[in-house]
Amino acid sequence: MALLEVRNLTKVFLRGESLFGGGATGEVRAVDDVSLEIEAGETLGVVGESGSGKSTLGRLILRLIDPTAGGIRFDGRDVLGLSAKEMRQLRRDMQIIFQDPFGSLDPRIRVADTLEEPLIIHEKMTASARRLRVQELLRIVGLDESALRRYPHEFSGGQRQRLVIARALALRPRFIVADEPVSALDVSVGAQIVNLLAKLQREFHLSYLFISHSMPVVRYLATRIAVMHRGKIVECGDTPQITEQPQHPYTRSLLAATPEITM
Ligand SMILES: Nc1ncnc2c1ncn2[C@@H]1O[C@H](COP(=O)(O)OP(=O)(O)OP(=O)(O)O)[C@@H](O)[C@H]1O
Ligand SMILES: [Mg+2]
Repeated sequence: MALLEVRNLTKVFLRGESLFGGGATGEVRAVDDVSLEIEAGETLGVVGESGSGKSTLGRLILRLIDPTAGGIRFDGRDVLGLSAKEMRQLRRDMQIIFQDPFGSLDPRIRVADTLEEPLIIHEKMTASARRLRVQELLRIVGLDESALRRYPHEFSGGQRQRLVIARALALRPRFIVADEPVSALDVSVGAQIVNLLAKLQREFHLSYLFISHSMPVVRYLATRIAVMHRGKIVECGDTPQITEQPQHPYTRSLLAATPEITM
């Protein structure tokens, strides 16, 4: 059984009322009848141009927004049917990392407190156990202990993304949605973060939904790739199959637009 199963997931946004009283106009089918599975320990890469529905798909899976239709199972449980309490439990298992390492950390909060916060909320730990865990988290993402007393603005973009990853790992999740986690970074810094994500995956048997508009990045990290176009998955398959024998014209155009970068 797959860790995550998504069936016929659909999200329709309403684009507001017509000026002429004609009722709801423009529906956007941001995610349109998407089905996919992710096994424990694997990475499904999601590629597609801007507006194709990648982030909406990620947010639906984490139940940050509710779908218009469809189903989500995580570890055999019906995610959409869970109570608020059960959902809080499940949130430990499912985390998200966003593109913007600047926006996702509170500038007024020191690193030590940022990393400790999820432990205080979700874990019954003593203060000293929490301190040890925070130190361990820093080590896991390759940051020095001196980081603890500092504030987010004192770090580079790549270091900040490491902090965001450390916080996402605090509760030992099994599944992470990474939404363009390296898009805001220089190529070489981004490559280091991608390597870190790959290492963490091996170490903790993590599953990733890895969203990116960059084929080279996705090709490096993903076991399988889903290609999104206008809310639909137009093609999904093993990474070598998608990158070497793309079937759908849209996949071919994405690959053609990609410079030959090897990571
Ligand atoms: N809260 C919302 N209300 C209305 N429309 C939305 C909302 N969120 C997303 N959309 C629309 O849904 C579609 C898909 O958006 P989404 O952000 O999922 O795309 P994306 O593939 O992540 O794009 P990008 O690569 O730019 O991040 C777009 O047409 C977008 O305008
Ligand atoms: Mg997006």
